[in-house]
Amino acid sequence: MTDALLEINHLGVRFGAVQALSDVSFRVEAGTIHGLIGPNGAGKTTAFNVISGLARQTSGQIRLAGVTLDQLPSYRRTRLGLARTFQNIRIFREMSVLENVLTGAHVQTGGSALDILLRLPRFRAAEREGVARARDILQLVGLESRAESGAGDLAYGDMRRLEIARALASNPKLLMLDEPAAGMNPSETQALRDLLLVLKKRGVTLLLVEHDMQFVMQLCEEITVLNFGALIAQGSPQEVRRDPQVIEAYLGTKTAHKLEQKS
Ligand SMILES: Nc1ncnc2c1ncn2[C@@H]1O[C@H](COP(=O)(O)OP(=O)(O)OP(=O)(O)O)[C@@H](O)[C@H]1O
Ligand SMILES: [Mg+2]
Repeated sequence: MTDALLEINHLGVRFGAVQALSDVSFRVEAGTIHGLIGPNGAGKTTAFNVISGLARQTSGQIRLAGVTLDQLPSYRRTRLGLARTFQNIRIFREMSVLENVLTGAHVQTGGSALDILLRLPRFRAAEREGVARARDILQLVGLESRAESGAGDLAYGDMRRLEIARALASNPKLLMLDEPAAGMNPSETQALRDLLLVLKKRGVTLLLVEHDMQFVMQLCEEITVLNFGALIAQGSPQEVRRDPQVIEAYLGTKTAHKLEQKS
């Protein structure tokens, strides 16, 4: 077997009467872009919430680089190399773009509480270093010229990129993106595709939830499909888009046909 960065084993999540996930298992190989798709309410965001520690599973295990995450709070998962963005953009609109990225880096900043309190040289050096890194990340996502702008003044597509920048500030091994292309125009989507390929080249593993099927099929080497909380298919884009169950539950014959022609 190859190296799995993320291993999901028999994951189950129940919210009262709703079984949001049942017995879901999949592996995300290091260095790949892995898609997680399925119709509305299939459990994709729930999976992200549980993997990132914002919600708890009722059964099953999650491992990141061999470490069991199940009992760990979210910030410990961040330290282990997990980062995510949100389906509904979560940025600090009152803060600048640069400050938003710095909030993502906090977990990384060195120095003790006393260093920080007294603003000792060690802390100031770390702070300068943090700002330089944040600017590098903004450059990577194409927002360097907006560093001092208010985050709330950004165009929609730029807010989505800022979320990615903030997630990158924690220096993740695995970055989970929840519908990053939602609401983007074609040129923003193209820029996003290029960015994700750059991240992959830099060694970041990506887990991608997205409804834009052309985007998913072009980027991912492996795709996991959920429907009503259950795994219904898994495989390469070609395998998944030809799967009768996936066509029936999600793609529809027209989309499946279009994807086939475009590939
Ligand atoms: N905190 C919660 N409490 C109760 N039910 C929840 C909660 N979070 C999610 N659900 C339910 O779990 C199911 C899965 O929802 P989820 O948001 O994970 O779907 P999704 O695949 O992300 O859908 P979409 O494509 O619309 O974003 C839905 O039935 C949803 O209503
Ligand atoms: Mg969702």
